[in-house]
Amino acid sequence: MKIGVLGTGMVGQTIGTKLVRMSQDVMMGSRSSTNEKAAAWVKANGPKASAGTFADAAKFGEILFNCTHGVASLDALKLAGAENMKGKILIDVANPLDFSKGMPPILSVSNTDSLGEQIQRAFPDVKVVKSLNTINCKLMVNPSLVRGDHDVFVSGNDQTAKSRVTEILKPEAPSSCFHSGCVWSGRSAPRISISRSSSRNESCRRPLADASLDVSRQRRAAGRPAPWDARPPAHH
Ligand SMILES: NC(=O)c1ccc[n+]([C@@H]2O[C@H](COP(=O)([O-])OP(=O)(O)OC[C@H]3O[C@@H](n4cnc5c(N)ncnc54)[C@H](OP(=O)(O)O)[C@@H]3O)[C@@H](O)[C@H]2O)c1
Repeated sequence: MKIGVLGTGMVGQTIGTKLVRMSQDVMMGSRSSTNEKAAAWVKANGPKASAGTFADAAKFGEILFNCTHGVASLDALKLAGAENMKGKILIDVANPLDFSKGMPPILSVSNTDSLGEQIQRAFPDVKVVKSLNTINCKLMVNPSLVRGDHDVFVSGNDQTAKSRVTEILKPEAPSSCFHSGCVWSGRSAPRISISRSSSRNESCRRPLADASLDVSRQRRAAGRPAPWDARPPAHH
């Protein structure tokens, strides 16, 4: 399959490399067709790897990954072009982390909105699926790095697109629990990401994330629909 990876940072490189190793054809996109990081990545990954602008990668890919700086994702996707992404699944791994006031970062969009929703509104013909953004990129491509089962959020308004993304991710993490919800269900996920990255101690990080997931599991076990599985608000 042809996959467009939008982003030349650590996440784009890690996901791109994994996909090439899975025998997929991957084009990495950036603001410039001569981006040095992308060129080095192509050199290291052989004939299945290529690079171009965001628009080139968006046109190339049957499925796209948004691995751009979250605060700039809308700008990057505008460069990718709505026409090049039309009808395609965009797996959005970005978090809108604003580091301008130092550490820890704050979310540039939160509470009543989220980056995934902003992207879906800006590009209504794209099937946005927010996923993997709560997980470190090394773990995204190698879940066995952390023992035990994992929880993966899959948020989007298109059920078929979410099922397709789950199909892609599941073989890599067969014992993971995939939590599916509509696109606004991803609103709280970046907070988990901040909590995890702000805490140095693994034993501190786990209960924080696990507590919210326990609620999810308990609700499901009790047969009550979780609020994040409910229909999106009327204005969406
Ligand atoms: N690090 C992790 O393990 C992890 C885990 C989960 C989620 N995430 C999220 O994954 C995303 C990627 O993270 P990263 O550390 O790999 O990369 P990053 O440094 O956050 O982003 C790099 C990409 O953003 C693009 N970009 C930056 N400013 C831009 C602007 N003004 N306009 C258009 N594009 C711009 C860059 O374009 P050029 O290529 O042209 O420079 C580059 O491709 C982030 O949203 C991050 O929050 C990271």
